[in-house]
Amino acid sequence: MKGIILVGGFGTRLRPLTTNTPKPVIPIVNKPFLVYQIELLKMYGVNEIILATGHLSNTIKKILGTGESFGVKIIYSLENQPLGTGGAVKLASRHLDGQGAFILNGDVLTDINLDKLYNFHKEKKAKVTISLVPVADPTKFGLVETNENNQVRAFVEKPGQNEITTNMINAGAYYFENEIFDMIPPGVNYSLERGLYPMLLEKKIPFYAYNSNDYWLDIGTPKKYLEANKDVLEDKVNIPALLDMKKSGSVFIGDNAQISKKVRMLSMAAIGEKTIVQPGATITDHSVVGNHCIIEEGAQILGSIILDNSFIGKNSKIVNTIIGQNCKVMPYTFIEGGLLKVIGDGAYIPEYSII
Ligand code: GTP
Repeated sequence: MKGIILVGGFGTRLRPLTTNTPKPVIPIVNKPFLVYQIELLKMYGVNEIILATGHLSNTIKKILGTGESFGVKIIYSLENQPLGTGGAVKLASRHLDGQGAFILNGDVLTDINLDKLYNFHKEKKAKVTISLVPVADPTKFGLVETNENNQVRAFVEKPGQNEITTNMINAGAYYFENEIFDMIPPGVNYSLERGLYPMLLEKKIPFYAYNSNDYWLDIGTPKKYLEANKDVLEDKVNIPALLDMKKSGSVFIGDNAQISKKVRMLSMAAIGEKTIVQPGATITDHSVVGNHCIIEEGAQILGSIILDNSFIGKNSKIVNTIIGQNCKVMPYTFIEGGLLKVIGDGAYIPEYSII
């Protein structure tokens, strides 16, 4: 079985974290996000994965390579200019050898049961099946209306308040029969949501919606990104990729991390590979410290994410903040993120700063 993952977007809502690192490989609890999707697909027998790339495609390639280390084959479909979700799928479909495929948006953290989706698709004799999840506020998503037989009736992309008739939204996981790819125009920017789906309805092509109750989160904003890390720490996402992480109590610990015995890790947290945590430091409240970081003595990290290669100086305190890669937070600094603060890659915060 083959799958396509859409990973060519700009990830603008997650800036500045996505300025140098594409959203699909931004780490969630110290694993590139796509690893969660690759493991999900693998779990359901998809072992050939086509990544529809564009923006920062080389960075994705560098991190994931051929896929061999994940036990799958990764094929890169490269767009020279963004083709939109539909155009990207069309280009990637060249690698499907006439087969149907699962398609995933590369920014949803989910443990959706793809067997159930596929069986539903076959039972209904659908040509396209879209998965739906319930959300509290559907205004920021593609809202999908269905009839009593789960056939899609209407597709309203990012609805206004007066257009909300359901709380079921597009979960970004689909199954397409191969003939559907012939309906997408080649080589042009084309949207699945605004182009293909309305056309399926118009032409009365069997288009069904599978209602999922599985874990689902769009990681596209800093707040959701923080939430995704928290949910993984809490074991809410049922994907085996997570099982190989070493755990001590409720703390995930990367290989060769050096953690002083005098470190206080009060509740769920993660420390990345080769990270050094010095005596008297506190890392707690669902904090995640990336790979190759240094957390100096007495530093306190509360409800925060520190990305790879960053340095947190002695007696600094970081609360509700996401600190990008390669940052230097010098000693005695206090960063209080309020609801949430994001500090971009490479920032230098001088000693005694209060932010
Ligand atoms: P924002 O800019 O923050 O909205 O994020 P985004 O760029 O990821 O856009 P959006 O969330 O709408 O995209 C949904 C999924 O489609 C993401 O996984 C994107 O990577 C992907 N995507 C969006 N546009 C393109 C495109 O032109 N080409 C490819 N290959 N993927 C795309």
